[in-house]
Amino acid sequence: MPSPPSLSGLPVPDFLRGPAEDIVRALDAQVPADAKKQLLRAQYTSAIGLRLAFFLSQGVLSSRVSGGSNVDGVAAAAAIAKAVLDPSPRARVADEDSNLGNIVSNAASGEALTDAEAAEVNQFLSQHLAEIVNLFRVELEHLENGTYKFPYDLNPATAPAEQWNPADVFAIARDTLADQSSVSARRDAKNGQELLDTFAPDPERYPAYYLQNFHYQTDGWLSKDSARLYDFQVETLFLGSADTMRRQALPFVAEWMRGRDESSTKLLDVASGTGRFLTFVRDNYPGLQCTALELSPHYLEAVRKNNARFEGGPGSLTLVEANCEAMPFPDASFDAVTNVYLFHEMPREARRNAAREFARVLKPGGKLFFVDSAQVGDGRALGMEKAFDQALERFPQFNHEPYYKDYSVTDLKALFGEFGLEYDDSTVAWVSKCWSFTKKEESREDAAPSAMSEASAESAVSDEAAAEKVPEAAGEESSAEAAPVAEAAAEAAVEPDAVLYEFDADEDAAAKEPEAGAGAE
Ligand SMILES: C[S@@+](CC[C@H](N)C(=O)[O-])C[C@H]1O[C@@H](n2cnc3c(N)ncnc32)[C@H](O)[C@@H]1O
Repeated sequence: MPSPPSLSGLPVPDFLRGPAEDIVRALDAQVPADAKKQLLRAQYTSAIGLRLAFFLSQGVLSSRVSGGSNVDGVAAAAAIAKAVLDPSPRARVADEDSNLGNIVSNAASGEALTDAEAAEVNQFLSQHLAEIVNLFRVELEHLENGTYKFPYDLNPATAPAEQWNPADVFAIARDTLADQSSVSARRDAKNGQELLDTFAPDPERYPAYYLQNFHYQTDGWLSKDSARLYDFQVETLFLGSADTMRRQALPFVAEWMRGRDESSTKLLDVASGTGRFLTFVRDNYPGLQCTALELSPHYLEAVRKNNARFEGGPGSLTLVEANCEAMPFPDASFDAVTNVYLFHEMPREARRNAAREFARVLKPGGKLFFVDSAQVGDGRALGMEKAFDQALERFPQFNHEPYYKDYSVTDLKALFGEFGLEYDDSTVAWVSKCWSFTKKEESREDAAPSAMSEASAESAVSDEAAAEKVPEAAGEESSAEAAPVAEAAAEAAVEPDAVLYEFDADEDAAAKEPEAGAGAE
């Protein structure tokens, strides 16, 4: 069963905290286990139900702004309700009798679908909606078993204020929708490389593959606005399930952490984005010594903000602005590396460099917990191979994901295995997959040579004070429109004294970089 409710994160005066915790524990001991279970279920299903309904409405609005295929929110909600009521929706295929209305009746071009086409699309979407419901069912089981804590952001008492404040929610929903017309214009023009008009690819700063408008997003990864809208956009795309898909790594982390001392455990989160995943790890293991590595200074600043809730706690966070293909850390310096949703946005060679680096910085016996898209064939285990592989095919076309197709058939066991990372296990959660690997004990001598110099390794800083050197408005000065090509990359970086580690690519890595504009593999 889950642990008793915690007061951490709640605004309780310090002198009352101890007695209040004693009272909570005493009350908790009096509540029958079954009642606790019902309470947890009610809390989770209401929070997730609200989240699902909210992001579904955003998806419907967004499809209206995009103009093309209009999503019928009522039909989609009916399909979700049906999956919720069905005790085992997984393998069910919606038949004509159970079709509660077509979710989509236009093609992306805006043309009306024939009845047969609409029924096929409806079946495809219904299966995916059922799988989202299933994803939440699995998470609820983990919460009931106490595998990890009730997510802090699903509880209005512990969530960041802006997440439940109607004015803030309205503002971000409005700005995301406003941005949607630019996203749609880029999609219509198939223009996913707008950044190359402004930024010159530079292997020592931003490689060509990085300078893309993935998902046709405005400014790619390189603006404060992009970092502000990113989580909302991703949750809209996945109907509020993106965090739950990230959290499928937590059961692996929980198993590994059992009996470990948090304060002497070093965890590196590579390509943290806005740091959402890290917040869930730290909420469960507040004593960890964490490092977040990101290539975008704007996203790194979001990591800092999202993790501010843990400041003053027992653990630490170090922020590092660098390319994960050549990380500025000594060999064998981390107990665990986590990496979420990165590899599908990297070309093959960059993925290899990153895999080599993950292995290099891990201690022998250390763990890699890796989450990314599910791959071709993974739908078989879910009983929906066709709907699954169709989704994997359609997603990159719709979203400007030039490396996705190649990623979706990449043999990750072989890729990580080449560098001494042995496969442990994996789980598939809707369209994502989590993998666990262990660095072989004997692989240390075989590890690839370090990409960093001894000197820069020694200058590594790993405490909260260092993290705080990243300024409040990191990168605020940078503007994709304003910066001239030659200076743009430099301007986009955080102030030099705030950069904890300088990215120092070696000659070999530079030679492997693709030519400017060489986007797709
Ligand atoms: C799709 S997002 C995933 C972010 C985050 N892990 C999440 O769960 O949402 C990819 C992130 O990887 C970062 N990134 C891409 N290539 C990188 C590289 N070579 N080195 C470091 N970060 C990189 C981007 O800046 C972006 O924040």
